[in-house]
Formats: sequence, structure tokens, C-alpha cells
Amino acid sequence: MRTLIGDIIKNDGKEVELCGWVQARRDHGKLVFIDLRDRSGFTQVVFGPDVAHASELRLEYVVKIKGGVKKRPPSMVNDKIPTGAYEVGATELTILNRTGEMPLPILGDGYDINEEARLKYRYLDLRRSRMKDNLIARHDAIKFIRDFLSERGFIEVETPNLSKSTPEGARDYLVPSRIQKGSFYALPQSPQQYKQLLMVAGVEKYFQIARCFRDEDTRGDRQPEFTQLDMEMSFVDQEEVMALNEELLIALVATAAPRKKIQEIPFPRITYKDAMEKYGTDRPDMRKDKNDENLLAFCWVVDFPFFEKTETNTARSEASAKEWTFTHNPFSAPKPEFMDDLLAKKNIPEILSAQYDIAMNGTEIGGGSIRNHRPEALEAVFEIMGFEKESIRKNFGHILDALGYGAPPHGGIAWGLDRLVSLLQNEPNIREVIAFPKTGDGRDLMMDAPGEVDKKQLEELGIEIKKQL
Ligand code: AMO
Repeated sequence: MRTLIGDIIKNDGKEVELCGWVQARRDHGKLVFIDLRDRSGFTQVVFGPDVAHASELRLEYVVKIKGGVKKRPPSMVNDKIPTGAYEVGATELTILNRTGEMPLPILGDGYDINEEARLKYRYLDLRRSRMKDNLIARHDAIKFIRDFLSERGFIEVETPNLSKSTPEGARDYLVPSRIQKGSFYALPQSPQQYKQLLMVAGVEKYFQIARCFRDEDTRGDRQPEFTQLDMEMSFVDQEEVMALNEELLIALVATAAPRKKIQEIPFPRITYKDAMEKYGTDRPDMRKDKNDENLLAFCWVVDFPFFEKTETNTARSEASAKEWTFTHNPFSAPKPEFMDDLLAKKNIPEILSAQYDIAMNGTEIGGGSIRNHRPEALEAVFEIMGFEKESIRKNFGHILDALGYGAPPHGGIAWGLDRLVSLLQNEPNIREVIAFPKTGDGRDLMMDAPGEVDKKQLEELGIEIKKQL
């Protein structure tokens, strides 16, 4: 029965029933004007003196109205909004819900509002049209990606969130097990190992819009939980993975952000060494005009060194206490010409990996590699990093075993979806394109998480909290 406000244009001269929120209100005594908003837009509604309760309306009240759509007099047309040539003369009003005073304004882009308030009342902040547009743009991008990959024979496979600690470079979030007291799951830093195991399983073309968890300091482009477009393919080389991703990115920009123009196609490539020498970073900003907010400069960065010297042993795992650590992830293969060196564990600093990162306007939006599909090559990586044989078995036995049962050559990539969408939407940080993001210190102000739990819950888990130091 209900008409969406965006559709009133099609209903000129007709009676409609609209539902939504009061976004603005002008009480002229005899006549009350409101701007009524729903998901599809907003329109002006006029109440004459014969409509009961109209004078009670306040901002953000939820209402249902019946009335007739009519053209506004030419002098009253608001050409800034799509419905601006029309208004609705209300004949009936039902107040569905009232509200107290709003803790933050809904009109406006919200950039100038204190972010703590925006995050605490996120459900209100998301009412503003900028945030709604961001949610829709994110949805559209994900849908486009799903359709694009599905058409090319990929299948989306979900992988577990309760898993085992993996060495992806950050600290893990741990989840205590009640049934196996004293044992912990780790939330995945990425589906890396599962997607490789899916290649062993013969899936051949996998993707997932995957939630990843990393316990690291939050910044503008980092969240403790974030979303990747994750993919993996069998029987491919580096060029094929890069070509497919380039095609997808170009098509996505054309569809999801048609205002944007890509500076250079095919995307330029630069080696890690040249990027560091020329730009001082491995995610160079190649834009020729940095003031043009619609310019996208993608570039591939290739030929990364496989290993780097460990700086300190303060970091995450036993591996980093040793002399060498991986630069991207330990599952990458070396470039083919360095395989012999890897297996012989010699010329370690010279070994280049079959890794490719993709940067856009100075942000790393994705990274991937061809993997070691032979167990002895992966084992050599762990040995170079100084893992003892026993520890390699314990931590990576499952994947080494799997590679030994006929793993096809494979490779893949993961995009930081939040980063990509925020750049396409011209947003200054990824929190603007995440419905319920965390603060810089990892809190969800709306839910008040993390929070304390009952003593009983801890007892069940066999956990005791040490006195605060
Ligand atoms: P990597 O660790 O490079 O690779 O992650 C891929 C992309 O994810 C994004 N990203 C983040 N976005 C928001 N918040 C974070 N904390 C965060 N961390 C990373 C970045 C990055 O480029 N398994 C490999 C991929 C592979 O080899 O296939 C991986 O996770 O845009």
C-alpha cells in the first residue's frame, strides 16, 4: 500500500500513503509544513488546520500520512532535490512513534559532529543521507563483485571464524574454549589457509566477502575487524591473477563510481625496489593531479623481497624472535627463478617473492601471491624463519600434509574492501563506510564492547582475571 517517497513523482495527482521520519518542520499556525524522509528520499508535506495532531509533530517523529501529490507553484520548486517540484497535501496523519530530543543532528553531512557521539548513536548517524548512500554504495560494489566472479565460474565459500592462530603478521584475537578448557580458538586474520585448502579440495575458483580480525592499533585505514574480497585460483600464474583483478577493478569503477576516471590502463607496474627508491614507499601515489578528487591512479607493485631481517623480538610469534621473517605472508612462493635458492636456503636476502600488491592513490588496497604448492618449499620458508621442525609440525602440519596430497599450483589475492569503498566514495577514512565501526582504541561505543562478563561465565571457561596491575 505504501508509496516510497522517491516514487511520488510517478504519482502526480494521485492519493498516496507515505511512511517515514520528520526531518524538518515549519509551523505557520494554520499550516504545518514538514519534510518527510524515508529510505528513498524526502518530500514536503503540508497539513491544513483540519488534520489532527499536525502541530504536535517534532523532529524525527515517525509518521504515516495519507494525502494527494501535487505540483508546487513554479516559484516554490526546489531543484536541489529530485522530488522538489512536488508536495503532498496531507488529509490524514498517524503518529507511529514519538522521540525525545535528538542527541545529534540528522541533517547535514555530519563531519563536524564529535565522532564519539556519532559512534555511540550510530543508528541515528546512519539516518543521514551521506551514510545511507555509503551503505548502498558498499552493497552495490559487493553485489557487482559477486556477479562478476560468479559469471566467471567462481564460487563463494564461507570459511570458519573460530579457527587456529595463523601467522599473518598481526596479533590474533583469541576465543577461549569452554569444552576444551585452557585451549583457544583464534579469529582468522584472513582466510588464507582455508582458501589454499579449498584449492587442495579441487574448488579451483574460490572467492569470499570475508571478515578478518587483527588485533592491531586502529587507524584511519585500519579496523580490528574488516572485510576482504578474498579469492584464490588453481592452475594460474601471476599474470592471470593480476589480469583478472585489473579487469574486475576497471569494471567495478565504471559501474560503482562512474564519476571517477582511471589515470592509466593497463595499470602501471613498479618493482618494490623502484617504488622505494622513487617514492619512498611500497604503495606509491602516482596521481598526476592530486587535487582532482575523481582521479584514480592504480599501480601494481611487484618483486618484493621474500624475507627481511627481524628488527626486534617484541612482536607476535615465536617466528619473529629469529633472524628472518616473511614480508607478506609465509605461504607465498618465490619467483620461479629463486626456487632453487629457497630450497637450498641460500642467498636469502636476494630471494624475490611471487607477490603482487595493488595500490590506489597511495593506499594499499590489495595484495596476493602465487603460493608454494609443494610442501618442501613451504617447509623451507619456515626453516629459514628459524622454526624448529617440531614447531613446524605443530603449527603447520595440517597445511603441509594437505600440500602433500596433490595440491595444484595456485595463487590469489585479497582486497581491503572497506578501503576501496571509502576511496570510491571520497570518504576520509574507512569508518565512514562500515555500519558499526570501532574507535581508535578498539571500542564499540554503542554496544559498550568490550565489556566485563559474569564471574560464572569465566568459571565455565576456566579463566581467572588477574588483579589489574
Ligand atoms: P593482506 O594482509 O595484505 O593480505 O590484506 C589484504 C588487504 O586487506 C586490507 N587490510 C585492512 N583493511 C582494514 N583494516 C585492516 N586492519 C587491514 N589489514 C589489511 C588491505 C590489504 O591490502 N591473505 C593475504 C592475501 C593473499 O595473499 O591472498 C592477506 O590477508 O587493503
